[in-house]
Amino acid sequence: MPARPPALTIQPVRNGRGLVARRTFARGACITRLQGTVVHSDVLWTWWKRNARRAANCIRFDTDRYLNPEGELGAFSNHSCKPNAALFKERGRLVLRAIRAIRAGDEVTHDYSTLLGADDVWTMCCNCGERGCRGTVRRFDTLPAATLRRYLALGAIPAFILRTR
Ligand SMILES: C[S@@+](CC[C@H](N)C(=O)[O-])C[C@H]1O[C@@H](n2cnc3c(N)ncnc32)[C@H](O)[C@@H]1O
Ligand SMILES: [Zn+2]
Repeated sequence: MPARPPALTIQPVRNGRGLVARRTFARGACITRLQGTVVHSDVLWTWWKRNARRAANCIRFDTDRYLNPEGELGAFSNHSCKPNAALFKERGRLVLRAIRAIRAGDEVTHDYSTLLGADDVWTMCCNCGERGCRGTVRRFDTLPAATLRRYLALGAIPAFILRTR
């Protein structure tokens, strides 16, 4: 049997470079596991002063640690206010799963707010271009009620993020 083709490719997209699906993914399918180096939040604070871009790319991993995806696919995962994927914390790993059907050639995006705790201060001006774009990406507890309900129903907001409220 031929080897399974790589799930994702890095390509120019609306917001710089992004992750583009190389095959279809059914809703709920695992797209990839996010790899990287896990660092304490104290380290992230030092990066804010020296390398803000690196700090901005880090993804909350648990109560006081962040995943630095530098050099890995996760470094190219863009945000959308109407994402087709979400990050789930499963057995100590961050797993990117489709939350609706994804076709080959679609950019794979997730909503950064699902991993921004009530104690996270980072915000981003959003250029996702979706109707209903929130304009600014902020901590999960500022999400519109209907969006928050949907993510909660999907299990897309990890327990360690919910506990920050
Ligand atoms: C993890 S990187 C993603 C890869 C990045 N697009 C690139 O070309 O290197 C996250 C950064 O991409 C940009 N970005 C991602 N999604 C965006 C969006 N919806 N609107 C504006 N900028 C976005 C922001 O600069 C953000 O800090
Ligand atoms: Zn948006």
